[in-house]
Amino acid sequence: MKIAIILGTRPEIIKMAPIIDEIEKRGITSCLIHTGQHYDKEMSDNFFKDLEIKSPDYNIHVGSGSHGKQTGLMMQGIEEVLLDEKPDIVLVQGDTNAVLAGALVASKLHIAVGHVEAGLRSFDITMPEELNRMAADACSLMYFIPTEESAINLLAEGISRKKLFITGNTVVDACFRHLEIANKAGIQEESLANLDIENMDNILTLTMHRAENVDDKERLINIISSLKELKDMNIIFPIHPRTKKTLENFNLFDELNELDNVHIIKPLGYLDFLILTSHSTLILTDSGGLQEEAITLDVPVLTLRYNTERPETVSAGGNILVGANKNNILENAEKILNDEEFANKMKNAKNPYGKGDAAIKTIDAIEEAYNNGLLDIKA
Ligand code: UD1
Ligand code: UDP
Repeated sequence: MKIAIILGTRPEIIKMAPIIDEIEKRGITSCLIHTGQHYDKEMSDNFFKDLEIKSPDYNIHVGSGSHGKQTGLMMQGIEEVLLDEKPDIVLVQGDTNAVLAGALVASKLHIAVGHVEAGLRSFDITMPEELNRMAADACSLMYFIPTEESAINLLAEGISRKKLFITGNTVVDACFRHLEIANKAGIQEESLANLDIENMDNILTLTMHRAENVDDKERLINIISSLKELKDMNIIFPIHPRTKKTLENFNLFDELNELDNVHIIKPLGYLDFLILTSHSTLILTDSGGLQEEAITLDVPVLTLRYNTERPETVSAGGNILVGANKNNILENAEKILNDEEFANKMKNAKNPYGKGDAAIKTIDAIEEAYNNGLLDIKA
């Protein structure tokens, strides 16, 4: 059996790492295709190093661009590789443009598609990620689903129960395995080491990159004005390149950078980032992966969005949607800081994403399907 894995952005590298590891452990032949959507060292290479993943067999180098251009180039590049490699199954992960491109191309070539982290829905079709998820799920043969809630979304769309595998989320596998490694290794990145977080209280880790926030000046202004008032917090902000660019374009970067309670640093590698988040009192983010990691690491998270495709984290009590609303951000952040009972309730929220064996369950299901001839979609 040959498995092709498509990835291209930071979260895909992190969440595919446990799967790549499991494939290698079992001696299964694989082919790793990087779309090149993320290309800065801090957004790509550093993760291959931190997560000890083999170098990609192919890099399509699509770089940045409009959705159409990026997706089109990916489709062209992926098609060439798949025609050459003829894998038995193609795995895509999550909701980026690579998922859309990979799933479309593979299914048109009659190659089985396995969607890792399938079934998530924000029900907000203005998000590019929602369109990518829905399109990939329309093309998939096997669905590796993090929770029962996501399985219900797929059942409601008429997908056969036989194709659904509730595995948990591979982010838990990555998080558990690498937190231990990170703590042993200690902080590597100078900008984080200089902040001396071991001796720092009230750390708030901030990340944002979602188009709906960082491409909208008014929302950015609201978020920044709330950060200004969180004077008791040490806000550490490893900044996504998209966000740096738009803050600069809106002339907001210097204003934010000059705040005494805000420390803007480059994006961190996975090991350093795990050290940072696990030392945090609070996470403020619009990241998908970070909503999952927060509940895995027992850190309260406030999500800078009005909806989420991870509603389990909210119903479990570990995540509050604050949008880009200054009052919501301030009220909840101050409560987490000053109300121990409130903070503990959030910290003790039950992790809905499994025990860290999602990659094992995923590859078990693929091996079984292969052995039963079920990957041959023309049969
Ligand atoms: C992409 C995904 C998003 C995911 C995120 C993870 C899509 C539609 N979006 O968003 O779902 O949550 O990755 O981080 O697939 N840039 C750099 N260096 C890089 C990469 C990007 O400078 O290595 C800058 C470029 O100016 C680029 C901008 O960031 O135009 C946005 O990059 P892009 O890959 O289009 O989308 P992300 O916002 O990263
Ligand atoms: N992350 C990281 N370094 C950082 C910021 C985030 O390693 O400086 C990791 C984080 O632990 C999570 C993933 O990147 O696993 C989330 O990626 P991102 O927020 O870019 O994308 P999303 O999950 O929203 O698609």
